[in-house]
Amino acid sequence: MTAHPHHQVQIVAPQLGLGPAARVLLDALPQRFSVPEANDGYVTFVATHPTWSAVDEAGRVIGLLAPLDHAESAEIYLLVVSPLRHRQGVGRALVAAFEAESSTRGFRLTHVKTSGPSDPDEGYAQTRGFYAALGYLQLGEVLDLWPGSPAVVMVKPLPTPSGEATAITRSTVPITTAMIVEALESAGVCRGSVVVVHSSLSRVGWVAGDAQTVVEALRLAVGEPGTIVMPAHTGLSDPASWVNPPVPEAWCAVIRDAAPAFDAALTPMRAMGGVVECFRRLPGVRHSGHPAVAFVALGPHADAVVVQHPLAHALGDASPLGRLYELDARIVLFGVGHGNNTSLHLAEHRAVYMGKQTVQLGVPLVVDGVRQWVTYDDLDRDETDFPEIGAAFAAAGGDQVTIPLGIGEVTSCSMRDLVDFAVGWMEQHRTTTVH
Ligand SMILES: CC(C)(COP(=O)(O)OP(=O)(O)OC[C@H]1O[C@@H](n2cnc3c(N)ncnc32)[C@H](O)[C@@H]1OP(=O)(O)O)[C@@H](O)C(=O)NCCC(=O)NCCS
Repeated sequence: MTAHPHHQVQIVAPQLGLGPAARVLLDALPQRFSVPEANDGYVTFVATHPTWSAVDEAGRVIGLLAPLDHAESAEIYLLVVSPLRHRQGVGRALVAAFEAESSTRGFRLTHVKTSGPSDPDEGYAQTRGFYAALGYLQLGEVLDLWPGSPAVVMVKPLPTPSGEATAITRSTVPITTAMIVEALESAGVCRGSVVVVHSSLSRVGWVAGDAQTVVEALRLAVGEPGTIVMPAHTGLSDPASWVNPPVPEAWCAVIRDAAPAFDAALTPMRAMGGVVECFRRLPGVRHSGHPAVAFVALGPHADAVVVQHPLAHALGDASPLGRLYELDARIVLFGVGHGNNTSLHLAEHRAVYMGKQTVQLGVPLVVDGVRQWVTYDDLDRDETDFPEIGAAFAAAGGDQVTIPLGIGEVTSCSMRDLVDFAVGWMEQHRTTTVH
């Protein structure tokens, strides 16, 4: 229940059994709801479909909004406000609550069908005015929807809900440290493991304590003798290669001249998630120093993993991935899939396949105390087939365990087995298309 600020009106979440209240409200608006059979249909609909209501100080229902889900849009099937309470914000409050819920349930659109603009009735013009004021846009008029009266569909795009809002809506219980430790252990992570972790908090559900909980659970699972490694990629790259979004060509030279040099402590990571952001702040975490595709590590093997990270061919055997392979690390995919599995780039480096090529990349770096734009060679990496490789590995009985956690999953596999499998897969499948 949410209190309406102005009139002590409360908006009550959808419930069944509001048929009698619908009857009273429809009867109070005989000019607008004049067809008895149609009204019976609305009353039956409200009686049998969870309906939003607005309730006044005395507990009387003064407004109803009956929603109807479609594949990609949530419809306002019926909206009615007591005539005594028109223009007091009740309709707006009902629609706002309905839209917020529709958005968190994943809908990108809401819509309503009402009388079209060629209907001369002034009352209908007011209804369209109401929806227009709330941001609803008219699609073209439809003449054969309702016999004898023109209809119009009015639509409104909804804002994309935040990952956190979606996670709350979809979760039944908050995820706790104990639940995460249990999932990690069931997935094969144990005391002393070397783990390389890729994570998305929102995709497992709502976690009590946020990223810190995941970091603490990882530390509990591997214990003192364990080593935790995470990619800490910045996305620093040549502006001419940017596609999401691209920048005008004329800007590229300015960006290459002006972007500040990479600074391991300062340059923000890109698309790595809150868990890495939290993890990298732990005392003792080591950074591999690569300006684009660094790793951060904590634990007895941390130094060995990050000590060398060459600028060129940054995810090959000479990189931290090579050390992790030697250490027989376990990959942990926390809420994410193999599409985010950086280790598969090591397989790309090792495999021989058609179209494999080297590209020149660029980053702003301080060299000998001077900020410079530095270019280097790297593999033309491609992760588009990574999810397919992960699925093939699982299907082939690879050393991989997936454990449900909240609304998502935790998957763990042996990096060595996966990389070895992926090399063979790539050599077999990356044949005809140029990757
Ligand atoms: C349409 C209806 C639901 C609006 O509910 P309401 O509680 O009166 O609307 P609100 O007070 O929340 O109005 C929100 C905004 O919509 C606009 N609006 C509301 N009524 C309007 C009208 N008659 N003409 C033009 N704009 C109007 C205004 O901008 C208003 O904001 P403001 O009062 O700050 O200017 C209500 O009038 C009603 O029940 N009408 C009869 C049934 C109906 O037509 N239902 C729609 C079926 S599709």
